[in-house]
Amino acid sequence: MVKPIQKNCLKVSLFITCLMAILCFEKIALSDPEQGDKKKPVVTYSNPYFKGTKEDRESQIKRMATLFGVECDFCHNEDLTVFSEEGEKSKKMMKASAALGVECDHCHVDRKHYKENEQQAKKMFELCEVMGTDCDFCHAGKDKFTKKGEKSKTAFVTRDWPTEGTKQCLECHTEKKQFALNFYGWQVLNAMKGSKGM
Ligand code: HEC
Ligand code: HEC
Ligand code: HEC
Ligand code: HEC
Repeated sequence: MVKPIQKNCLKVSLFITCLMAILCFEKIALSDPEQGDKKKPVVTYSNPYFKGTKEDRESQIKRMATLFGVECDFCHNEDLTVFSEEGEKSKKMMKASAALGVECDHCHVDRKHYKENEQQAKKMFELCEVMGTDCDFCHAGKDKFTKKGEKSKTAFVTRDWPTEGTKQCLECHTEKKQFALNFYGWQVLNAMKGSKGM
């Protein structure tokens, strides 16, 4: 049996707990910019480019706008419902940056100028277009590669890819099929297995 005085105590502590829960909840709600009084569409915060706390994300955005020397509406409206051509391109660029584990300034000096890896980067975009892959097919963060990335390292060297380009990869791989082997590719693979006695 609970005595009346204990019952009161229980009520008070329950009240305090509830109050704290409400206060906490309100703080979370307030710190989300899209849940304020204005009825804006909710930002998804889903782009893999953005990392960390709200403040981290905001400084990432600021760095990006400063690097390009543009205002926010260069890429999208305030609600993030309408994206300009550059904004759409930036979505893809963000995906690429996330795969490489870098920010925009890894390749961009400003809006009009690129760093010395420009040509290599352009070739990489072209390779992905031809082979139907994303950057994360081979890149697994800053200076890290997937198994397939390691394999293509060898292919890049033996095939002199930087000068000869991606077209020659189609001798053995099928276009747009993420490096699936074509008929000749299978023959090469079988010959390789044969020579290894597998
Ligand atoms: C160079 C283009 C570009 C500029 C400039 C730019 N943004 Fe963005 N912003 C984007 C892209 C692309 C996304 C990701 C959209 C997506 O993937 O759905 C984004 C996402 C965001 C997000 C969501 C962040 C998240 O965590 O998902 C916010 C908030 C935002 N931008 C605010 C701003 C503000 C404020 C400015 C101006 C200071 C600005 N942006 C400038 C391209 C840009
Ligand atoms: C791996 C290198 C690399 C990274 C990282 C990179 N970019 Fe790019 N970006 C390029 C190259 C190369 C081009 C030119 C591509 C072309 O001509 O199609 C380009 C073009 C663009 C363009 C179009 C420019 C124009 O005027 O047509 C925009 C906008 C852009 N990048 C935004 C971004 C943003 C925003 C980021 C960071 C989130 C970013 N890029 C990260 C290499 C990169
Ligand atoms: C088929 C595998 C593969 C794909 C797909 C791929 N890369 Fe690469 N990438 C590599 C390899 C391997 C290297 C290292 C080359 C070397 O060591 O000579 C590299 C190096 C680079 C470099 C030069 C090093 C650096 O960090 O500046 C850039 C830039 C780059 N990749 C950008 C991209 C972008 C952007 C994409 C997506 C559009 C992409 N790559 C897709 C395999 C790939
Ligand atoms: C003469 C034939 C031939 C050419 C040309 C060739 N490859 Fe390959 N490639 C193969 C064979 C066979 C395999 C499978 C055996 C293996 O995984 O080592 C393979 C596997 C790969 C893989 C791993 C695919 C996976 O799903 O595991 C990548 C990535 C790759 N090649 C990239 C390239 C690139 C990039 C080029 C062009 C620069 C290229 N290859 C040109 C024969 C070729």
